[in-house]
Amino acid sequence: MRRILYRGEKLLQNPPKEYDVVIAGSGIAGLYAALNLPEDKKIAIVTKTEIDGSNSWMAQGGIAAVLTPEDTYLMHEEDTFTAGAGLCKKEAVQVLVEEGPENIRQLEKWQVPFDYNEDGDLILGREGGHRLRRIAHAGGDATGRETTKRLGQLAMQKKNIDIYFKHYMIDIFTDENGVCGISAFREKDGEIFLFLARHIIVATGGIGQIYRHTTNPLGAVGDGMAAAARAGAVLENMEMVQFHPTTLTAGEVDGRLFLISEAVRGEGAKLKNGKGEYFMQGKHPMADLAPRDIVTRCILKELRRTGEDRAYLDCSHMTREFFSARFPTIFAQCERVGIHVPEDAIPIHPAQHYFMGGVQTGLFAETAVPGLYACGEVSCTGVHGANRLASNSMLECLVFGRRCAQHITKHFRTDPIALPAVAESAHEIKFSAEEVAADRKALRKTVSDCFGPVRHRAEMAAGEQQIAALLQKYENAVCENVPEMELCNMLLIADKIAKAAIARKESVGAHYVED
Ligand code: SIN
Repeated sequence: MRRILYRGEKLLQNPPKEYDVVIAGSGIAGLYAALNLPEDKKIAIVTKTEIDGSNSWMAQGGIAAVLTPEDTYLMHEEDTFTAGAGLCKKEAVQVLVEEGPENIRQLEKWQVPFDYNEDGDLILGREGGHRLRRIAHAGGDATGRETTKRLGQLAMQKKNIDIYFKHYMIDIFTDENGVCGISAFREKDGEIFLFLARHIIVATGGIGQIYRHTTNPLGAVGDGMAAAARAGAVLENMEMVQFHPTTLTAGEVDGRLFLISEAVRGEGAKLKNGKGEYFMQGKHPMADLAPRDIVTRCILKELRRTGEDRAYLDCSHMTREFFSARFPTIFAQCERVGIHVPEDAIPIHPAQHYFMGGVQTGLFAETAVPGLYACGEVSCTGVHGANRLASNSMLECLVFGRRCAQHITKHFRTDPIALPAVAESAHEIKFSAEEVAADRKALRKTVSDCFGPVRHRAEMAAGEQQIAALLQKYENAVCENVPEMELCNMLLIADKIAKAAIARKESVGAHYVED
């Protein structure tokens, strides 16, 4: 594996920027970690998008936590384990569920506009795999947007936090004492900057764009995960890719498929085929609210049986007033494409949605590299096991984002940092923009065909070889623009997915091998 994507002369052309903590990514995990660090620490948030470009921003469902007297930590823990097909790490799940409520209270204190009833209590939703209502939401189905927006506002008001939008993290540098900085590419002019710090938090989100059909935004290509791996972090559970059962079939919006939240089924909507038959009955004790991997496979099996290309979500038991108030974003998008809910059933198909694998971390988001932390979707804390329970992802961002800030505060380091060396680039290879785009397309097709929700051994073996050939081709590529860097990162992650999928012999959770 190449260690560094870019070490050319532009690296030291601009004066390095010195910080106490550098956070890559501006989703909920990164912002929340920043806000939980002491105000005397100088923090840089380096992010490839604007504030609305993260996966967090798109999240609809909500944040799961034990918030009612009839719920218990044990029940939330059991639901998490059941969804995760038993592969979750017990200690991490305990931390997740037990610290959930206090983090929700913190968000309330910071005025995240959750939805409340007229008594002032949080309105709680339900999603697949949850035995009861425990999901706090905001803006009906816009929890991610409302939470990210508010945390972003707070971060922008802080004097100790500088946010560098549209700066793409390229590499993470290390010296004999651990991490010491990152390089970042400024989109508007191609300038490269070095950010020096003894604490780096990678909170760059998921990998969805490695697949052809995904709910993830265009930037979700796994670049933080790849940079962490090149810096020596361990990647874990890389075969565990989650497919959401219900994305709108009407086509892509800004390169991603529109999600129809599981919370819609939580309010009683049912899956049916083109003939109007409700096919989830009898397939699982929780029927339409079974864990995501199971519902996804049932839909795909049903489509194979009927020869249809889509299933439908029947919301006809809800009134138009209720649906549009509870799910304003989904209602508006359906209207935009001519689907009038609840009179019309919503046409859906499964698509890639979340990545359970990622950078292996401990209970404080710490990685194998001293000073390097990972939180949010980029990390593998062990809480999701083989299949994430719905609405546990934003919860994980909060719980481990705060723990990461606590760990940095307690183990704060200031040892001096030397500038990284600039290297020769004489033997590197250049590719045209067209070739890079074509290879990206080919990679997405291979990964989708060979490492989807239902896998086959021969296809996985062929897929691994195709990915390895592309990886080899780009091993010495000159990476001076974002598409090239993204492709190199996507190849690294795809290769890890392929190898992990082939190595795991049994079907478990999201890793389902038909033969
Ligand atoms: C959804 O609203 O269905 C997605 C929420 C999640 O991914 O947890």
